[in-house]
Amino acid sequence: MSRPDVRSFSVGPVQENCHIVRADPQATRAVIVDPGDEPERLLDAAEALGVEIEAVLLTHCHFDHIGAVAPVARATGAPVYCPEIERPLLTDVMSWVPPGFGPFESYDPEHTLAGGERLSLAGLDIEVLFTPGHSPGHLTYAIPGAVLSGDVLFQGSVGRVDLPGGDWATLERSIGTLLARFPGDTVVYPGHMGVTTLQRERDTNPFLAELRARVPAAAPAAGPGTTAR
Ligand SMILES: [Fe+2]
Repeated sequence: MSRPDVRSFSVGPVQENCHIVRADPQATRAVIVDPGDEPERLLDAAEALGVEIEAVLLTHCHFDHIGAVAPVARATGAPVYCPEIERPLLTDVMSWVPPGFGPFESYDPEHTLAGGERLSLAGLDIEVLFTPGHSPGHLTYAIPGAVLSGDVLFQGSVGRVDLPGGDWATLERSIGTLLARFPGDTVVYPGHMGVTTLQRERDTNPFLAELRARVPAAAPAAGPGTTAR
């Protein structure tokens, strides 16, 4: 089975990563994760890829991840899936935006998610995981071979925990859940900076020293005769 095709675009003043995800490189339907800014650029990218956006998925509702939700949803007609307890941030965006950013348009999402759901969108099987700590309702979207994990885990770093609802012990627990749940070669498409893998972060991320001691090396790959890397 081919792995999903993920195209990432760093948008806006804080270079948030928005991802256009489809089941394979020939698929004509896609989901878009965290359209944070530059809606025209994202819509042009979807058109250039020849895909129709079937859904907008949000990992969390910090302004840099949701600034282009309204224009993208309007242009595509795609329903928006929002973390349940962060919905008030999307429906009243500008009340939460720091000075100097925006303006952004609020949006009333069609669906809310709490984690634990399974979505079938654009031919993708998507598992929704509750991964709080950076923000109180943060979600991670798992697709075959990869996770779209917003601001949970970065290449050599982790999401900040000093914003409202942030908590390090909670974030560490969320990261531990991802490490325990998915194979080490799972690709991590984060909300900022470059792509990495769960194994690489488990082994080298300086913020995960304590977690390393508690979480065993990579979850074994599926199937007999394979060895964990
Ligand atoms: Fe964030």
